[in-house]
Amino acid sequence: MSERVIPLIDQRLHRRAATVPAQAVAPTGLLGDALGRPLRDLRISVTDRCNFRCSYCMPKEVFDKDYQYLPHGALLSFEEITRVARVFAAHGVQKIRLTGGEPLLRKNLEILVEQLAALRTTEGLPLDLTLTTNGSLLTRKAKALKAAGLQRVTVSLDGLDDTVFRAMNDVDFPVAEVLAGIEAAQAAGLGPIKVNMVVKKGTNDDQILPMARHFKGTGIVLRFIEYMDVGATNGWRMDEVLPSAELIERLQRELPLVPLDPTAPGETAERWAYADGSGEIGVISSVTQAFCGDCNRARLSTEGQLYLCLFATEGHDLRHLIRGGASDAELASAIGAIWQGRDDRYSQLRASLPPETGEGKRRVEMSYIGG
Ligand code: GTP
Ligand code: 5AD
Ligand code: SF4
Ligand code: SF4
Repeated sequence: MSERVIPLIDQRLHRRAATVPAQAVAPTGLLGDALGRPLRDLRISVTDRCNFRCSYCMPKEVFDKDYQYLPHGALLSFEEITRVARVFAAHGVQKIRLTGGEPLLRKNLEILVEQLAALRTTEGLPLDLTLTTNGSLLTRKAKALKAAGLQRVTVSLDGLDDTVFRAMNDVDFPVAEVLAGIEAAQAAGLGPIKVNMVVKKGTNDDQILPMARHFKGTGIVLRFIEYMDVGATNGWRMDEVLPSAELIERLQRELPLVPLDPTAPGETAERWAYADGSGEIGVISSVTQAFCGDCNRARLSTEGQLYLCLFATEGHDLRHLIRGGASDAELASAIGAIWQGRDDRYSQLRASLPPETGEGKRRVEMSYIGG
């Protein structure tokens, strides 16, 4: 039997202290990175834990009982998160997404939601405040999240067939409970709801049509995601990726679709409408059609590391500034300077990168910085 090599994934090894630049970078809302891309979307991970073990994200062999999750003291407090988020909003962020791991595992998350809901964009408007969840705790939490000011949710769901779904989450979690969670979110008014399905060829691609039929006409937007080579633990292989073009072709045979125009620059999903007017779907094609060109997303890890790309190999440590007495202006300058230096566009360059380089193996995990 060949031995499986468990890659080293201690994220704490890959950090760079954020520094306050000599020349201030004032938060004008007009910040651009080295490729001219604005900063609009902040994804905040509130826990590195999850109650699922999706093989493409937290494979059981790595995330086992011995895996060292972050200790409580390492996590940013709600007050710390809100303070950083306020600085990001001053720099032009308009959308905040709470992610994990599974964000609903973080105790009293509604309190954070309430604090974030009070923030305003540079134009004085509320931020688009949303959350990505596996749906397992939504029946219990939907109402309180809505009351706290959450606007909408995106639920991850990789199949409708109970056997397939239990295998995908790898903890034997029943699909009926997630479907009930989606209903609870709908009833609470957490819409428009999106459902994200990661497609792994040969594993759950037989669920594409059942999922489309199920959500068609419900007002819920189903999005199909190409399985990505994110992180260093999921054993990604190109032959398990179903290109979105092929997926659309499969859908079209039964459910005619027409392409829609993008709604916002930097959008992850390409949108399609059902020709009979019964709603829309999306495809997220990071592997076959990179969308780095206008990527406006920053990611803040649970312990306050700023990541400039989903495929980054190192984060910028903001926590040491936050806890080291930096003023808001200093924090804004540090964040501004980091963003100005950003030239990441991994998906675009993927094709020309050598596979399985040392760099690739050190990539940050999605469960640590969030989707
Ligand atoms: P909405 O604002 O609700 O439309 O969400 P979104 O378009 O920002 O997408 P969402 O957060 O639901 O992300 C969907 C999936 O797209 C994620 O789970 C990832 O798999 C992928 N994704 C999101 N952002 C990026 C990104 O910046 N780069 C890459 N390569 N993939 C991304
Ligand atoms: N490929 C594509 N999407 C992924 N996600 C996690 N890992 C991967 C991967 N390897 C996304 C899924 C899930 C969200 C939390 O993160 O969309 O719904
Ligand atoms: Fe958990 Fe989401 Fe990762 Fe699955 S994809 S293991 S639900 S964080
Ligand atoms: Fe943005 Fe990096 Fe994703 Fe490209 S690969 S879209 S730069 S996060």
